[in-house]
Formats: sequence, C-alpha cells, structure tokens
Amino acid sequence: MSPLFPLILLHITVAAAQLRPGHYSKTCPGAEFVVRDVMEKALIREPRSLASVMRFQFHDCFVNGCDASMLLDDTTTMLGEKLSLSNINSLRSYEVVDEAKEALEKVCPGVVSCADIIIMASRDAVALTGGPNWEVKLGRLDSLTASQEASDNIMPSPRANASLLIDLFGKFNLSVKDLVALSGSHSIGQGRCFSIMFRLYNQSGTGRPDPVLEPKFREKLNKLCPLNVDQNVTGDLDATPFVFDNQYFKDLVAGRGFLNSDQTLFTFPQTRKFVKQFSINQSEFFEAFVEGMIKMGDLQLEQPGEIRRNCRVANSLSVNTFSVLKGWDLNRD
Ligand code: HEM
Ligand SMILES: *[C@@H]1O[C@H](CO)[C@@H](O)[C@H](O)[C@H]1NC(C)=O
Ligand SMILES: *[C@@H]1O[C@H](CO)[C@@H](O)[C@H](O)[C@H]1NC(C)=O
Ligand SMILES: *[C@@H]1O[C@H](CO)[C@@H](O)[C@H](O)[C@H]1NC(C)=O
Ligand SMILES: *[C@@H]1O[C@H](CO)[C@@H](O)[C@H](O)[C@H]1NC(C)=O
Ligand SMILES: *[C@@H]1O[C@H](CO)[C@@H](O)[C@H](O)[C@H]1NC(C)=O
Repeated sequence: MSPLFPLILLHITVAAAQLRPGHYSKTCPGAEFVVRDVMEKALIREPRSLASVMRFQFHDCFVNGCDASMLLDDTTTMLGEKLSLSNINSLRSYEVVDEAKEALEKVCPGVVSCADIIIMASRDAVALTGGPNWEVKLGRLDSLTASQEASDNIMPSPRANASLLIDLFGKFNLSVKDLVALSGSHSIGQGRCFSIMFRLYNQSGTGRPDPVLEPKFREKLNKLCPLNVDQNVTGDLDATPFVFDNQYFKDLVAGRGFLNSDQTLFTFPQTRKFVKQFSINQSEFFEAFVEGMIKMGDLQLEQPGEIRRNCRVANSLSVNTFSVLKGWDLNRD
C-alpha cells in the first residue's frame, strides 16, 4: 500500500442487509420520531410535499433496490437519477429528506441510512394525510452510485397501459393486486399537464382525446391544460389530493382518472375488479396498500453500501474522505 494512502476507513458493506422493525432501537432510538417530526413540519409548510416525498419510495425501490440511489446528485463521472426521463422537472421535495438527515446526524451521526429515511418518511406521509400507519422494516444501506440509464429503462411512463404495468410490477414479484393498491398512492399529490397532453389531444396517435375520459372531467382538464399551456402547470391526481383515501378509485370508476396509467386500471379486466373493490371498501385498499409498500420496501440488490453522511453525496466524495484520498492531513492544525 502506498504511503500516500494511509488508513482509509470507508465503512462499506457488501451484501443485502437484513431488514427488521426496530433496527435502530439501540443505536438511534428516536430515529422514527425525528423523521415523523420533520414530516409534520413539512405538512404545515407545504402539504403537497408529503405526496412528493412518498413518491420517492417508488422511484428509489424500483431502480436497483431501495438504496437511496435516486437522491445522489450528478458528479463529473456519474449521471444520477434526478435527471432521468421520469424524474426531471417532476420529483421534488428533496429538501425534506435533507432536513430529516440533518436532524438525525445531530442525534446519532452516521447511523441512519438515507434509504431508511425514504421508507420512514413515505409511511409517515401516508399516516399524516389520513391513510394507514404501519411498522416499517429498517436496516437498509445507501448505494455508492446511481444510474440514470436504469431509471430511464425501468420507470413507467404515464402513457402506460395496465398490461405493461402488470408485467413491470411482476418483474419485482408484485402482484396485480399490489399494482392496483400501490397506484392508490395517487390518492395524494399532483401531476403536470406534460403528463396528460397526449391523453387530452392525441391519445395513441388518433388525434383525438382518450375516449374513456368522462366529458365534464375532460373539459376541466382542457381548461387546465390548453394546447399552448406551460406544461409544468399541475393538476390534482384525484378529487381529494391532500387526503389519503379511496377517492382515487371512485374517480377511476367514474372515468375521472388524471393519468392514462391510472384510468387504464379500470379499463383492463385484470385490474378492474381490484379498482371496484377498493372503491367500495377503503379498509381493503388500506390493507393491500400496506402489504404492497412493505413488499416494495423489501427490494434490495447485493451491492456495496454505506450510511451516507449527506444523502446527496457518496461518502467517498464528501470533503473529508476526499482530502484523505488526496493524502492531505486533516488533523494537522
Ligand atoms: C403504476 C405505475 C405508476 C406510474 C405510471 C406513475 C406515474 C406518475 C406520474 C406521471 C406522476 C406525475 C408526475 C408529473 O406529472 O410530474 C406521478 C405522481 C405521483 N406518484 Fe406515481 N406512478 C406510478 C406508481 C406510483 C407508486 C407505486 C407510487 C408510490 C407508492 C406513486 C406515487 C406518486 C405520488 C405520491 C405522486 C404525486 C407526487 C407529487 O405531488 O409531487 N406512484 N406518478
Ligand atoms: C399496451 O401497451 C403496450 C406498449 O405500449 C402495447 O404494445 C400493447 O399493445 C398495449 N396492450 C393493449 C392490450 O392495448
Ligand atoms: C422474485 O421471486 C423469485 C422467486 O422467489 C426470486 O428468485 C427473485 O429474485 C425475485 N425477484 C425480485 C426482484 O425480488
Ligand atoms: C398524434 O400522434 C401521432 C403519432 O404519434 C403523430 O403522427 C401526429 O402528428 C400527432 N398529431 C398531432 C395533432 O399532434
Ligand atoms: C418546466 O420547467 C423547467 C424548469 O423551469 C424547464 O426547464 C422545462 O422546460 C419546463 N418543462 C416544460 C414541459 O414546460
Ligand atoms: C372491507 O374489507 C375489510 C378488510 O379486507 C373486511 O374485513 C370487511 O369485511 C370489508 N367490508 C365490507 C363491507 O365488505
């Protein structure tokens, strides 16, 4: 080993971590309270941010497992996931996760992973907006890298139909019921005109709107998103966008789904029966949703991992370690 490289203590673990409830009960007993507190403050500051943070679990776990890869900023040598097709100008509220990380680093530095923060914060977002509360499994590690290409290849487009979505979720061992229940996350939050322009004006290249759109609802969306609109304008994903409930499914039954990928769940027979069930029985939706979130939260790859100090940067690239790699002596005064 070169003397220019003294002891480099990078805490990197390779292997899928064992996930369990209460993983931090000894090392950081207040962890879940700290995250819940940050989410409560976010709710007061900007109610929509809870939906935005909850979406992170999907965009994290589907791309190389739940490893907080989607939180990494681009570097000179790595194109991260923030600018991938599905994420650019769309994922938001990264600052809420930063706030949780900073608060946790104060009480137990270097202990709680960013990947676990996403899982806790998503659960809290649902619980704080009127949905179910549940016990989350913890103990994930943060990735050292991210992949824009993987995100581009995996994350589904709002144009997707139910049969494509069934196949995609199946690749992650998520059932048709899981797919429909997890889509119920669109019970909170908003989407951009960008995501529905094709549906309003040129569905499947027909030059016509999606025929299953209920006419009054279509008129409303046409007003929100006229052809020359700034496509960053947003609309509600269901009629009660700040309340986690089964209104989303009632809307689908009525032809009032915002995204094509939502409405298609009612159009296709394989998914329709679950939409109907969830629209009449909210408890059934909540139970299936929790089950789906836990399964999605279990997705993991065997890959090098660490507890990041800053959710946006791998530890090897953060200032201190970088200095050590360069052979600078940080302890010299
Ligand atoms: C089934 C396939 C899915 C597709 C095609 C899809 C697609 C989308 C799209 C296009 C948007 C709006 C983005 C924009 O216009 O900028 C959106 C928003 C959202 N998605 Fe999904 N999504 C899916 C599943 C999920 C899942 C599984 C979750 C979480 C468990 C989720 C959570 C959310 C939330 C909460 C929002 C609103 C975010 C906000 O207000 O900032 N989605 N989704
Ligand atoms: C669903 O979408 C896929 C991909 O766009 C397409 O190939 C397929 O024909 C569609 N399926 C149905 C039944 O419309
Ligand atoms: C799905 O389940 C099969 C069989 O249990 C397993 O081999 C595979 O790794 C699982 N896939 C994912 C993405 O978890
Ligand atoms: C509608 O989509 C089709 C196929 O993608 C395209 O050829 C056509 O030009 C589009 N029409 C309009 C009015 O944008
Ligand atoms: C939305 O806003 C972003 C950032 O301001 C801009 O770069 C982008 O072009 C806009 N997107 C659309 C679809 O108008
Ligand atoms: C609704 O679903 C719950 C949970 O699956 C079930 O226990 C209950 O009996 C259902 N209620 C009705 C009215 O069907």
